Amino acid sequence: MSMKIPELVREGSRTSLMVDGRPFLILGGEVRNSSASDLPFMDEHVWPRIRGLGLNTLIVPVSWELLEPEPGRFDFTLPDGLIAQAEREGVRLVLLWFGLWKNGISTYVPGWVKADCEQYFLMQDRYGKPLPAISPMCSKAVERDAMAFAALLSHLRETDLSRRVIMVQVENEMGLLGECRDFSPAAGKAYKESVPADMPGATGTWSEAFGDEGPALFMTYHYAKATELISRAGKKAYPLPMYVNAWLEQWPWFPGSYPTGGPIARHMDIWQAMAPSIDFLSPDIYLPDFTAVCREYTARGNPLFIPEARPCMDSASNVFEALGSFHALGFSPFAIENVTSDCPPMDAADLAGLNIMEEAFNTHRSGEFLSKSYSLLGSMLELIQEYRGTGRLAGFTCCGEPGELIKMSKINFCIQYPPRIPNTPKGGGLIIELDPGRYVVCGVNFRATVISAFDSDKEAELLSVTEGQFVNGRFVPGRRLNGDELGLRFGEEAALVVCEVGAR
Ligand code: DGJ
Repeated sequence: MSMKIPELVREGSRTSLMVDGRPFLILGGEVRNSSASDLPFMDEHVWPRIRGLGLNTLIVPVSWELLEPEPGRFDFTLPDGLIAQAEREGVRLVLLWFGLWKNGISTYVPGWVKADCEQYFLMQDRYGKPLPAISPMCSKAVERDAMAFAALLSHLRETDLSRRVIMVQVENEMGLLGECRDFSPAAGKAYKESVPADMPGATGTWSEAFGDEGPALFMTYHYAKATELISRAGKKAYPLPMYVNAWLEQWPWFPGSYPTGGPIARHMDIWQAMAPSIDFLSPDIYLPDFTAVCREYTARGNPLFIPEARPCMDSASNVFEALGSFHALGFSPFAIENVTSDCPPMDAADLAGLNIMEEAFNTHRSGEFLSKSYSLLGSMLELIQEYRGTGRLAGFTCCGEPGELIKMSKINFCIQYPPRIPNTPKGGGLIIELDPGRYVVCGVNFRATVISAFDSDKEAELLSVTEGQFVNGRFVPGRRLNGDELGLRFGEEAALVVCEVGAR
């Protein structure tokens, strides 16, 4: 029997991912780039390490080079095997389509594409030197990518009847690295012509219309148009939810130091207009200010999904902020198979090349803390879903400030983060207002006090605090915290209480 096809449903400001006809929140992890290219490797080195983490979804690449080794001959062994493994492990999959572009370059295209630079032409720098990335203006390459992507999607439609695969990412961190725009002959000619009529609000050539921003917007337009052709072909075959992910705009801030043309926050409007079959734009968050990035990527009605987050122990705290404050569809640290081992999964030079701080990949004990957060959140996903999109769910995580104020309908919570304790997660948590006066409070490494609403003449008072956990959606109480223990204090392992607050 085939299950319902996963879909996104929008109700007001809330978007839900429906899996088997019910809302599904992703507690995920993304594997490293090469792990899923070998099924025995997955069995030996990935599944055993992630089993205890409490993931409900694994994010894995499927590469064009392995899918279509010869033109028109497709080999589905890897996606089929990954689906069988995921079924055995009881988790869902998000597939990453590593096609024409992965982190600004084109290393995942099949050998027969690499060998034919005439048909599948590369971008060039301003001196005419070829860059290692196929141009989004190369319509032959875009067509071939779209054909392969559609072949994968129609195979999934026919074979993945239990709907293990719940979403697909189209390409990976698109954009051009090392130049501000493509200077290939085709691009050079197009750049001097008038801006196409479907580009929002522009007349004249790219530089007349946009000045300094011309090169970046030119690339954005062409990547988004190419992506639209690819994702539309895929959706026609099988309409799974689809998204693109971004290497964020960051220091040193010039286009080409980060991939230019990708779905950076500042160009979300162009991506939304030019690639309407892409359901949302996702940030890969390796930068320390997690909250600021989430805020940018929830603008313009964009539902938040974080396919890549720092694998260090910040993830154990950031996940509360993502689900609580930004009502995210899901959260997923990168290099998930490395969070249970102490070895840094990437060396400093490689990370520097990707402009990622070394601390982001310090996985020492991070799996231990992530599994605590995931198991706590995993037991209350239905409750979170019930309050998503309302003002009665709020999250927080420490991004430098000593604390924050969380406003609920009748009272406020004053959150205080302790100074960072080495080798434990930073502060983070979430609060749900079950009724005005009754709250679920959970998270790690923070304290909270209750204060009256600003227009109240009464003093807020903590009446009771009960430890506990959710089991099958029901709160199962543990200790009543009173006397020395009365208060909202959360240590290094994720914990949960239900508290009652009064006013006198
Ligand atoms: C972001 C990319 O999207 C990932 O595939 C990976 O390369 C990480 N950076 C860094 O390891």
